[in-house]
Amino acid sequence: KTPYVVTSKSYTAVAINAASKAGEWIKTRLGTVTQLTTKSAVGDLVTEVDKGAEQMIRKLIFTHFPDHAILGEEGVEPGPEASAKALEKYADEEYLWIVDPVDGTTNFVHGFPFFSVSIALAHKGEVIVGVIYDPSRDEMFVAEKGKGAYVHGKRMKVSGETTLEQSLIATGFPVGRDSTLPANMAGLTHLAPKVRNIRCGGSAALHLAYVAAGRLTGFWEIGLNAWDIAAGALLVTESGGQIGDTKGGAFHLGIRQVVATNGAVHAELVQALQEAEATGFENS
Ligand code: IPD
Ligand code: CA
Ligand code: CA
Ligand code: CA
Repeated sequence: KTPYVVTSKSYTAVAINAASKAGEWIKTRLGTVTQLTTKSAVGDLVTEVDKGAEQMIRKLIFTHFPDHAILGEEGVEPGPEASAKALEKYADEEYLWIVDPVDGTTNFVHGFPFFSVSIALAHKGEVIVGVIYDPSRDEMFVAEKGKGAYVHGKRMKVSGETTLEQSLIATGFPVGRDSTLPANMAGLTHLAPKVRNIRCGGSAALHLAYVAAGRLTGFWEIGLNAWDIAAGALLVTESGGQIGDTKGGAFHLGIRQVVATNGAVHAELVQALQEAEATGFENS
């Protein structure tokens, strides 16, 4: 039994239990994948483990909250508009759970131990609970709106760097990345000389959790979906950080060009990404 199983039926407890249960199961399936297929593009992988984990999470949430709606990555038609269409479909739902059963499927498939389960609950469009679980390191990141964010029950705080020069920044290449590759490369070329270093771990949700935990100064990625960012966004803001779009716009569940930082370097990172875009590569 994991130490994370919480007996209360609160939203947060259910999210933690679901993430923990799914995460433990996913870990047991490493190296056992038998059904590897692609979705919208050659790099857009899905396995029976993604689907199975989503089913487990759905079942658990519906057992406790049968009236709530669930938006899960594997429950929608793939494609660039998938997230926007789903958000529109569920726009009138009071409570919407947003689930990425395996964030970092490519890593999971290759046995690269950096993937996570991401579960968020939004109330009238605002995220009120965010949970990200990393089964490889057995780390449970938990945030509740207005109550802070925790890992191992310890309060998290973003890092203290004040300039890009001191910053460790992560980014990601979205699946089906052909359309975003020029913008990805422009961002890398422009950012690389300005920052301490760049990481590309392969799980957007974990990158956001790491910004919240102060392990990364910031993160940006072009072309993300609601399930990649919903839980992580709350972790970041509840840890004192900032999240929005690459143009400096405010966070909402529909943003796809995402920047998250410790707050102190936010303006500088947004500015640098704008400069990268001005080199001719519009963020698609
Ligand atoms: C992907 C991961 C990856 C990011 C992609 C996402 P998935 O999610 O978060 O790090 O670069 O943009 O789509 O498909 O493994 O859940
Ligand atoms: Ca996917
Ligand atoms: Ca994802
Ligand atoms: Ca996924």
